[in-house]
Amino acid sequence: MKNARATVDPAFVIGPVRTRTFGSFVEHLGRCVYTGIYEPGHPTADAEGLRQDVIDLVKELGVSTVRYPGGNFVSGYRWEDGVGPKEARPRRLDLAWHSTETNEFGLDEFMTWCAKANVEPMMAINLGTRGVAEAIDILDYANIPGGTAFSEQRKANGAHEPYRIKMWCLGNEMDGPWQTGHKTAAEYGRLAAEAARAMRQVNPDLELVACGSSTSDMDTFGSWEYTVLGEAYEQVDYISAHEYYFEDEGDLASFLASGDKMSNFIDSVVATADAARAAGKHTKRINISFDEWNVWYQKSTPSVPPSGDDWPVAPVLLEDNYNVADAVVVGDLLITLLRHTDRVHSASLAQLVNVIAPIMTEPGGRTWKQTTFHPFALTANNARGQVLRVAINSPKVTTAKYGEVDALTAVATYDEATGDVVVFAANRSVGDSLELSLNLGSFEELKLEDALTYTNDDPYWQASADDDTSVLPTANASAVIESNRVSVELPAASWSMLRFTAA
Ligand code: AHR
Repeated sequence: MKNARATVDPAFVIGPVRTRTFGSFVEHLGRCVYTGIYEPGHPTADAEGLRQDVIDLVKELGVSTVRYPGGNFVSGYRWEDGVGPKEARPRRLDLAWHSTETNEFGLDEFMTWCAKANVEPMMAINLGTRGVAEAIDILDYANIPGGTAFSEQRKANGAHEPYRIKMWCLGNEMDGPWQTGHKTAAEYGRLAAEAARAMRQVNPDLELVACGSSTSDMDTFGSWEYTVLGEAYEQVDYISAHEYYFEDEGDLASFLASGDKMSNFIDSVVATADAARAAGKHTKRINISFDEWNVWYQKSTPSVPPSGDDWPVAPVLLEDNYNVADAVVVGDLLITLLRHTDRVHSASLAQLVNVIAPIMTEPGGRTWKQTTFHPFALTANNARGQVLRVAINSPKVTTAKYGEVDALTAVATYDEATGDVVVFAANRSVGDSLELSLNLGSFEELKLEDALTYTNDDPYWQASADDDTSVLPTANASAVIESNRVSVELPAASWSMLRFTAA
């Protein structure tokens, strides 16, 4: 057991808790859409084929925005294929995932699903194989009340009111050589600026996201953002960041410290965006949409797409089965995103259902929760008000990838209206538990309402369809509060939430 100290003060404000930090992502990939959110004939499906059991879990997870329809998929997608009578919709090759897209599910079905799941859509346009004209067309179809060919088509398809979609991603991972229609930063920056300019001629108040880097490991990272923003700074509101984390066989210590990699990534994007601001003599700031993040074992079998003549419909792809350590990392990545709430204004856990997802489904059968469901749901449902920095004094752990890092990470939220204070904390040490002394002395007298910890003797325990309840966040009996001084034991490789209310 080692000792750590932390202090939270209501004056340590970083910025507001942003609902959009708790976004997710639905791509036409594997079984995310088909047999995921959409499965006509499933016992819980409604008349439109939307699985109600999945919608219930999406609500329980506390998801705010959902990015759609990709991902790599969007870079070859023709949105028009997915609207109108289903029997007339064409089947197409999906080059990104070497699959066949039936187009049974498209924009209108997605918008119906968003309304039922109570989430905000975040729509991506194709800037891989398409351009400015198609960007305006989809916007016209989605957002114009009526009187144009596309808006009347939407109404004829059953959606009388415009969707008024606000947030749009200008392509996906255009820095990646794997992307259909991959471009240089200058080519993409110019196209993004032109698409954005035209889209704002339709709806001036859109919120637009330019593609940043697909990971901080890209050779072009940094120069990509600088060049893209050099072209598109005034036309966009956000620059995206994408990154996936995973354990290199046997290196749990580095994996648990993944939050530090995300934190450095965010700091570097902020620095680059601000350098582009200075160079271009701009006044507004560009913030970050971290619209793909998660744990993803990219080299594992389910991540390898089919090949050759095999172009299956909705194959099993990227169906990673998460363990407890993965969930601790997901919890810590959420702590990291909240700690950067001043500049990270939106984020999407990639993805939502079946594909590297917290929610799993059986075709025709059950749903179940992955381990990663729990820290996400607890954070999304309890972080309210202002995000507060936690001043930390922590023992260090040595990692092969990141050197010495703090064992303890934490962030707090404070809802002035209710007086609730919530502290989210992770112990990233593989072997040592931490005795944490937490000083909340600057708040009015507080009562400890919940102390929940997620951990397991075997950090590699995985949930399954047959057992997703053996390891759950459980009450941490060691937590005590006296005169706003808290003492709690945080086990090795654990994630915790401490919730306080006014006494
Ligand atoms: O989320 C899976 C894939 O990861 C997305 O399609 C792509 O944008 C990223 O590389």
